[in-house]
Amino acid sequence: MIRHISYICLTGSLIVTSFTANADMSHGKELHDSNCTSCHISIQGGDGSGIYTRENNRIETYPALIKQVKRCRDSLGVQWPDNDVNDVVEYLNMTFYKFDK
Ligand code: HEC
Repeated sequence: MIRHISYICLTGSLIVTSFTANADMSHGKELHDSNCTSCHISIQGGDGSGIYTRENNRIETYPALIKQVKRCRDSLGVQWPDNDVNDVVEYLNMTFYKFDK
């Protein structure tokens, strides 16, 4: 029984690790630049990236960033799998937010 439980924990952490370790930032940038900027430009002007660096930014943690990317993905209406979301989150985090994970 105990062995069974630790097996589940191990599998869980392996999945979490590979979820973040396999992020493909250049794919994330590609997805981001072709899908996400035009709407942000219409809100924020410039190249749209000001929305990530604005003062009253409510995104303060890595999980909050994931959540917001999913929210925006849904308002965009695309069906990105978690892998794609993760690539975009990683791109945004490395470029703008720099949160610890
Ligand atoms: C239909 C318009 C629209 C599209 C398309 C869109 N966004 Fe957004 N995005 C917004 C709006 C509006 C906000 C500001 C929300 C707020 O102030 O609460 C925002 C905010 C964000 C933020 C938080 C900015 C911050 O730090 O405060 C992130 C991250 C983000 N968008 C990512 C994305 C990504 C990734 C995509 C592409 C999948 C995307 N957005 C596509 C409208 C859009």
